Amino acid sequence: MWTLSSLPIVQAPMAGSQGPDLCIAVCEAGGLGSIPCAMLTPEILRAQIAQIRAETRAPFNVNFFAHRPPAPDAAREAAWLERLGGYYRDAGLDPATIPKGPGRAPYDEAMCAVVEETKPAVVSFHFGLPNEGLLARTKATGAKILSSATTVSEARWLDARGVDAVIAQGREAGGHRGMFLTDDIDAQPGLFALLPQIVDAVKAPVIAAGGIADGRGIAAAFALGASAAQIGTAYLLSPQASTAPLHRAALKTARDDDTRLTNLYTGRPARGLMTRFMREQGPFNAAAPAFPLATGAVSPLRSHAEARGSSDFSPLWSGEAGALAREGDAGELTQKWWKQAREIIGGATHMPARPI
Ligand SMILES: Cc1cc2nc3c(=O)[nH]c(=O)nc-3n(C[C@H](O)[C@H](O)[C@H](O)COP(=O)(O)O)c2cc1C
Repeated sequence: MWTLSSLPIVQAPMAGSQGPDLCIAVCEAGGLGSIPCAMLTPEILRAQIAQIRAETRAPFNVNFFAHRPPAPDAAREAAWLERLGGYYRDAGLDPATIPKGPGRAPYDEAMCAVVEETKPAVVSFHFGLPNEGLLARTKATGAKILSSATTVSEARWLDARGVDAVIAQGREAGGHRGMFLTDDIDAQPGLFALLPQIVDAVKAPVIAAGGIADGRGIAAAFALGASAAQIGTAYLLSPQASTAPLHRAALKTARDDDTRLTNLYTGRPARGLMTRFMREQGPFNAAAPAFPLATGAVSPLRSHAEARGSSDFSPLWSGEAGALAREGDAGELTQKWWKQAREIIGGATHMPARPI
C-alpha cells in the first residue's frame, strides 16, 4: 500500500520549470507534489513551503541535489570559453563580463535547518545522498527519504543506507541523470529493463521514473513491480508548470527521436530536446566544465538568444515521451492518468506493490 499520498503518482521535481503551483495542484488531486530546491535559497524554500501549506493540507516532497561540488578548474573553464568564443563574437557579447550562471547547490547545513524547522513529509535526493550527518538529521525529522538510482548497484547502495523508497530512473527520463556511482552513460538501462531488476535487488519499495506519460505507462510500471510512478515531462505543458514559452513551444512539436543526453548545459548528463548548441558542440563534450560549472559559460548566450525568440542555447529538458505531453490542468491530468491505469490494471488487488 502506498501511503505517501492518496494516489501512487509522484510529480517529479523539476528545477527551473516549476514552483509551488504545480506541487499544490498535484497534491490537491491526490498525488504527491514536489518542489525542486537545487536552485533556491533557504529563504525562498521557507516561503514556498509556507505557500504550499496555505493552499493544501496534503503531504508533499521537497527535493535536493546531493552532488559533491567540484574544485574550480580555471584552465578548463577558460578553454571552454575560448571554444565558445565564436558564439560570443556573433552575439556581440564579451566573455569577460560573464555573470555567474544560476547555481545548483547541494543539500547543506542551511537547507537541512529549513527541513528541521518545516518538517516536510517527504524529502528526495538526486545524485546519491548527503553525508551521514545531514542524512541522519533529515531522517530524524520523520521525513520519508527517497533517492534516484540509475543502475542496480546504485539501488543497492541506497537500500543499504535505509532509504524509504528507491526511484528507478530509466534512461528515457527527462532532465539530469541521477547517476552517482558511474559515469558510463552508454550503460544506463531503459526503464523496462531496469525496474524489475531493481525490484528484485532491493527491499525498499520502488518508484518508476522515465518516459511515463499517461495511465498506460503507470500500469506498465505496476506490472513490473513498481509501488508508484514518478512523472516529469508530461506535466510540463500544464498551466501550473512554469515552463518557459520557448520550451513549451518545442515540447508541442516534440517527436520520439528528438531528445539526446547532453552535458553541455551544466556539466552533467541530462536529457533534452536537440538544440543548435547540442548539434554543434556535442551533444556530449569532454571539454565542458564539471557540474554545475558549465552553466556559467552558456548563460549569456542563452539569455541573448531567448530575448530574440531563439532556443538555440536553451536547455529544453524532456524525456523520450515528450510527444505524449498534453496541455491540461495538472490535477486533472493526475486523476485522468490514475483512472486510466486502474482500468488497465483492474484494481488494487492486482498490484504487487510494496508498502510505504
Ligand atoms: C524539466 C526537468 C527538470 C528536472 N529537474 C529535476 C530536479 O530538480 N530534481 C530531480 O530529482 N529530478 C529532476 N528531473 C528528473 C525527474 O525527477 C524524473 O527523473 C524525470 O522527469 C522522469 O522522466 P520523464 O521526464 O520522462 O517523466 C527533471 C526532469 C525534467 C524533465
